[in-house]
Parts: sequence; structure tokens; C-alpha cells
Amino acid sequence: MSIKTRFLLSYVGVIMIAITLLLVAIFLFAFAITGDIKAIEHFYKKSYVQKPLTTIEENAFLDLKLLAKNNPQQLLDIEQLQNISTPSIEIVVRKDHQLVYASQKDHQRVLLKSLPGFEATNINSRDTIMINQAFYTYVKFDFYFPDQTEGSIFVLREVSSRAEVTRELLPILLGILFVLFMMIIGLLNYLVSRSIINPLSALKEGAQRIKSGDLNFEITSHSNDEIGQLNRSFEEMRIKLKESIQLQLQYEENRKELLSNISHDLKTPMTSIIGYVEGIKDGVANTEEKMDKYLTTIYTKAKDMDVLIDELFLFSKLDLKKIPFQIESVNLQQYIHDYVEDASFDFIARDIHLQYISAGSPLYAMADLDKLRRVLTNLLSNSEKYMDKPYKQIIISLHERAEDVVIQVTDNGAGIDPAALPYIFDRFYRAEPSRNSQTGGSGLGLAIAKQIVVEMNGDIWAESELTKGTSIVMLLKKAEEKGNNHEKNTIN
Ligand SMILES: Nc1ncnc2c1ncn2[C@@H]1O[C@H](COP(=O)(O)OP(=O)(O)OP(=O)(O)O)[C@@H](O)[C@H]1O
Ligand SMILES: [Mg+2]
Repeated sequence: MSIKTRFLLSYVGVIMIAITLLLVAIFLFAFAITGDIKAIEHFYKKSYVQKPLTTIEENAFLDLKLLAKNNPQQLLDIEQLQNISTPSIEIVVRKDHQLVYASQKDHQRVLLKSLPGFEATNINSRDTIMINQAFYTYVKFDFYFPDQTEGSIFVLREVSSRAEVTRELLPILLGILFVLFMMIIGLLNYLVSRSIINPLSALKEGAQRIKSGDLNFEITSHSNDEIGQLNRSFEEMRIKLKESIQLQLQYEENRKELLSNISHDLKTPMTSIIGYVEGIKDGVANTEEKMDKYLTTIYTKAKDMDVLIDELFLFSKLDLKKIPFQIESVNLQQYIHDYVEDASFDFIARDIHLQYISAGSPLYAMADLDKLRRVLTNLLSNSEKYMDKPYKQIIISLHERAEDVVIQVTDNGAGIDPAALPYIFDRFYRAEPSRNSQTGGSGLGLAIAKQIVVEMNGDIWAESELTKGTSIVMLLKKAEEKGNNHEKNTIN
């Protein structure tokens, strides 16, 4: 049985039970007041079915009926009729559309119009009529006078107009009640459909679409009830599922790209090595000078491959989170000062102005110094590699923010194309696409740097202007001055 049918049955059931309880309550109430178990039945019969006359009225009617049957002529005797009708009994005698007698004079004129017609069979002898805006119940007997004219006798009694109206309106009231009953059921059905059945149907359809692999739809819900919450949870589940599938596809895509990049980057030096080795074997390197050149090239290419394999290895270990991090509170101000002091000899030799700008006071941050050194070396190597100015300048600066310490490596090099900027931290991405050119790297340097910084709960990004220079900004979480502070630092 569907939920809709169950709800429908439950509305009907509830309304029926309510009506039954109401009737039982009325019955008990009437019983409690009257002490008569048939009180309601009697009330109903008295009021609507029999509409009885009083005993005196009934007797008067019987007297008149007897006269009409045996001696109708006497019904024309006004005096006799006056004897029968006491002030409380209203009697009317009609002969051939003329009123012979009416005990209440003021009714005479309207009576002819209101009283029912002659009926020889006397079937409808009791009913209610309206005279001068008041309801009267009557008993009637039709007969023939000796001259064969039609005669009728009536005994009338005024009844409560309200009861009569109710009686007349009862079928209409019942009809209206029935219509209301249907409307309430319809309304309840509509409300329940809107708030329960429709959202459930949407869920069912959604589940079926997910089953068939379609995740491109939306389940909306505005209500805050359990069904609304269920729909929202379902929608969240759909979004999560879609995201995870997209992520899966992205991983798959990345994996393929990675494989192809690794193959390419390993294949190129390998091809050169094989070429040179074949040259030596074939005796092309016939002079000592040539031999030396060939061997140097083979060595350089093999070294390149070794570096690349090392980087790949490191990258994949970072990716798999297999490299342990020793993150601790360190004095970056001192550490970078020492680092620059150490490195500047080499940089001066290569005609590069490496400068360190800091606030001067100790700045503590959470970092793994070994890994941080690797990041700084990568950044400096990039600045040097992509330098295109005669005056080569690299500035490392350090300052603090509310919650972070900021390390910034700025150069006056070639800068990065804005279109390439969002991708430079992606693995194997190189803004200048020809691989293994003069400046060539594998495109892993910044990807490794990012993995390390993220692992240290920091952040890293690039700001750059083409032809002007690049600035790599690194944030590390500020720390308290305690534990291992690296005032006296070791750079190895
Ligand atoms: N300081 C910089 N100036 C100009 N371009 C830069 C700078 N740093 C990075 N880039 C651009 O970002 C790309 C990605 O840098 P990344 O360090 O990841 O790779 P790479 O230097 O090419 O190779 P690798 O570092 O693995 O030897 C570089 O190819 C380069 O185009
Ligand atoms: Mg690099």
C-alpha cells in the first residue's frame, strides 16, 4: 500500500472516529440529563418524525373525522365546530375551495392559499406548512359532502420555527458537511503530498539517477522538518559523491600526465647518453679531446637524470606522506640570517646580490628546518635560473603578521606570465614549456616547496610581473619562544 493511500485512509479514519466520539458524547450527555437511554431517539421522533398533536388536539381531530365520515353535513354547523375547538385548538373546515370555518379569524385569508389541496386517498395527511412566516404542523382529512363537493378538515398547531428550519436545512447541512469533509481530506492530502510525498518522490528519483551514474541534478528543499533535513543530507551526499568522483578522475588524469612527464624527462637524457655511447663504440670519438667531450656530456646527462630521480623520489615520498617532519618552534630571524650569510659567498661569486631584510628582532614560527632549507634553496635556484637582468638581485625578507611569519623571496628576473601564475606550483609545470632547455628543470621544484610548506601548516604563493620580477610569499604559523629555538643554528 502506498504512503498516499495510507494517509488517505488515516484521514478518513480520524474524521470517522471524531464523528463517532462526538455522537457518543452527545448520547451520553443526553442520557446523563434525561436518564432515558432512548432520549435521543425520542427527541428525534418528537421533533421531526411524528410531529404529534397533543392528545386534546388528536381527540378533536378524531371527533371531526367521525363527523366527516358519518355526518359531513354537521361540519357546516358553525356552533358545533365552535364547541369542538377550544381556544388552544385551531380547526379549519374547507368546502370546495371555500373556508367554512377557521377558529383563528386572522388566519382566514392566508389559510386558503397555504393549506394543501384536496386528496381523496388521504395519503399525505400529516405535514408542515408555513402561514404568515410561522411553521404549522397539521393533520388533514379529506371527504365528500352529501352534495359531492370536496371537503377537508384540518387541525393545526404552531411548531417551533427554529426546529422546522433545522429540519428543512438538515439535508443541506449534511450536504455541506460532506463537501467540507471532502475538502478537508483534499486539503490534508495536498499538504501531506507537498511536504512528505513529493520530497520523498524526489529522493527516490534522485537515488535512481545516482544508481544509473547520473549525478548532475539538484534536490532542493525549503522546509526545515525531518524530510527537509533528509533531502538536504541527500543533496550534500550527492555533491560529496560528485566531488569525490571528479577528484578520482582528476587523480587518474594527473597520474597519466605524471607518467608521461616522467617518461619524457627520463627519455631525453637517456637518448643522448645512448647516442654518445654508440658514438664512442663506433669510434666517432677518435681523438682524446672528442672522447673527453663525449664522456663529459654522458656524465652531465646521467647527473641530470640522477637529480631528476632524486626529486621524483622526494616528491613521491612527500605525496605519500612518508617523510617524517620535525616541526618545532624556531627563530626564523636568526636562521635565515645564517642561511644567507652562508650562501652569499657562492652568490657573490656568481655576481648575484643576495640581500636579507628583517625586522631585527627574533621571530618564532613552527617549521622543520631541514625541509625549510630545501624550500629556500629551490626558490633561490629559480630566482637565479630565471634571471635575465645584468644586475641580478635577490632579496629575502622576513616580517610578521597577526598569526604568521612571512618569508618573501623577491628577484628582479624575467617574471611569470599572469596566465601561467596559477599553475607554477603544479608538478611538472614549467611556464616555458620546452623541457630540458638551457634553464631547464623538471617543474618539480615549486611543487615540492608547496608540499613541504603545506605540511608545516603554512601557505605559499607567487606574485609576479612579467619582465619585472617575481616574489614568492611563504607563510608559517607563528610560535612561542620556547623549546628548541635555533639561535645558534646549523646549516648543513
Ligand atoms: N623566480 C622565478 N622567475 C620566473 N619564473 C619562475 C620563477 N620561479 C618559478 N618560475 C616559473 O615556474 C615554473 C615552475 O617552477 P619550478 O621550480 O616548479 O620548476 P623548474 O624550476 O622549471 O624545475 P625544477 O625546479 O624542478 O628544476 C618554472 O618553470 C618557471 O617558468
Ligand atoms: Mg625550480
